[in-house]
Amino acid sequence: MDSEVTPIHADITLTVNGQEHRLTTDTRASLLDVLREDLGLTGSKKGCDHGQCGACTILLDGRRVNGCLALAVAHDGAEIVTVEGLARDGRLSPVQKAFVDHDGFQCGYCTPGQLCSATAVLDEAERGWPSAVTQDLGSEPVLDEDEIRERMSGNLCRCGAYVGIVAAVKDAAAREKASGGKTGREAAEA
Ligand code: FES
Ligand code: FES
Repeated sequence: MDSEVTPIHADITLTVNGQEHRLTTDTRASLLDVLREDLGLTGSKKGCDHGQCGACTILLDGRRVNGCLALAVAHDGAEIVTVEGLARDGRLSPVQKAFVDHDGFQCGYCTPGQLCSATAVLDEAERGWPSAVTQDLGSEPVLDEDEIRERMSGNLCRCGAYVGIVAAVKDAAAREKASGGKTGREAAEA
């Protein structure tokens, strides 16, 4: 049997952190590999490459996904935000600032995914999306510690910085309320 596999390539366009990129990619490549290997954006980390750890979390068309599980060719034309795109003009987003203030990291390997995930969590709560632990499905979820733990449960931290991470997300949610509902990158621009 012929063991040779001939790669098939496709031309795609991705807008990453506001910048358009046209590239030719192997149709088997994940978004994570394209970001890291082709575009040099190594902030998103490859922890497990199996959708288990969340280190590769990015925002894809405004929703968080595991970059290691998303085929790049399936997202031609997509808008992506990586951890490199959360700050604006050197100003940290509220989520980033809260992680610094609350020591929400130790080695930092999981942190890019945690930051992207937490940014999406604030947005999801503001949109009224319930989680598995939301009690009142009729009103906007309150991001208490149970909600934060549940919503961030796809992002593992090998160092055990969870106490700081939960405190940071809680604080960022409070800052978001105080700023009139601006989340993530929007608030960094304000
Ligand atoms: S590297 Fe994608 S979930 Fe672990
Ligand atoms: S800070 Fe080290 S894995 Fe989370």
